[in-house]
Amino acid sequence: MPRFDPTRALRPALRDMVPYTPVEPPAEMAARYGVAPESVVKLDANENPYGASPRALDAIRNVEAHRYPDPDQRRVRAALAARHNVPEACIVAGAGSDELIDLLFRTYVEPGDRIVICSPTFGMYAFDAGLLGAEVVDVPLREDWSIDGDALVAATVGAKAVFIPTPNNPTGGLLSHELATRLIETGALLVVDEAYIEFSHGESLAARAASGDPFVVLRTFSKWAGLAGLRVGYGVMPEPVATTLMQVKQPYGVSVAAEAAVLASLEDTAALDERALTIVAERDRMADALRAMEWLEPAPSEANFILVRMDRGDASDVREALRRRGVFVRTFDHPRLRQHLRISAGTPADTDRVIAALREVGEELMTDSMTGNEAAR
Ligand SMILES: Cc1ncc(COP(=O)(O)O)c(C=O)c1O
Repeated sequence: MPRFDPTRALRPALRDMVPYTPVEPPAEMAARYGVAPESVVKLDANENPYGASPRALDAIRNVEAHRYPDPDQRRVRAALAARHNVPEACIVAGAGSDELIDLLFRTYVEPGDRIVICSPTFGMYAFDAGLLGAEVVDVPLREDWSIDGDALVAATVGAKAVFIPTPNNPTGGLLSHELATRLIETGALLVVDEAYIEFSHGESLAARAASGDPFVVLRTFSKWAGLAGLRVGYGVMPEPVATTLMQVKQPYGVSVAAEAAVLASLEDTAALDERALTIVAERDRMADALRAMEWLEPAPSEANFILVRMDRGDASDVREALRRRGVFVRTFDHPRLRQHLRISAGTPADTDRVIAALREVGEELMTDSMTGNEAAR
């Protein structure tokens, strides 16, 4: 009998797959860089520096961990329906909005289908496209990181789906409602990813997605509600789409702890909104301080992070210099982001630390360039 050959058995789409680059656990990084874990300033994953709402933390203490969660997500869908003033039948929750993205791909995208993105953007869309053997068509953002609307509409005609985060990660800009309408009219599935909408001036399209226009809005509890570790997100969409996704999804994607935390968070929205305002204020204070350093140029952001262009040094060297100081920020492999850092907005103390660390690193780079000490970089 021939033995199973895992290489030959691999689906063709997975043979040259580029893995997703997730963030590493902070304790690992702290150990690697020789910094005390409690002194780490973690600004690399756009998490909420204030954590979950105290009510959510309290709620997860008493969950029935030995029971399976409700596969129909009744209580979660009802609470979300009330929040958005839409029918429950238009909502599907999952283990993070990542699960909803995966679900949309598995439901609608076949090998060879085209899906459209505007890079630089969130990496999960291209990752999932790769898993399914779909073709990714990129309509790059313009020089100022705005969307090239006409080019995007043209590329979307004949595609299966188009994925646009608003605010975009990592650039922080918004999708206009007018462009969303044009994209819906192309006949492709428009997925508007509102993971960071609570930090922006942008108005959510969630209610409209439930009113019949064929598109999907994704939301998450990872950012605004500080529940990234519990993994819970959801989509608002036309009822027929939701009905299908409810059939296709894994039955128990939203754990009992996630369910309890969602319900408690939705009873604590005023406190969570207040925290979001504090985070936005810190984002703006950080942007002003960075702009005052002549080697840094922060892009305007509507999210809880800032994309910063550096006139000096290379992003990975600066990231390493910051890590040695216990400050963790994100860099990217994208060719247009070699000179950029993405820094999440943190607490006031976090902002002070990252500003101080960047001042030191900027001075080091200046000294190195004056003395021609390239190796030190
Ligand atoms: C634009 C965007 N969408 C979705 C996600 C995934 O969020 P979740 O934690 O809900 O899976 C992220 C995470 O960083 C994101 O940046």
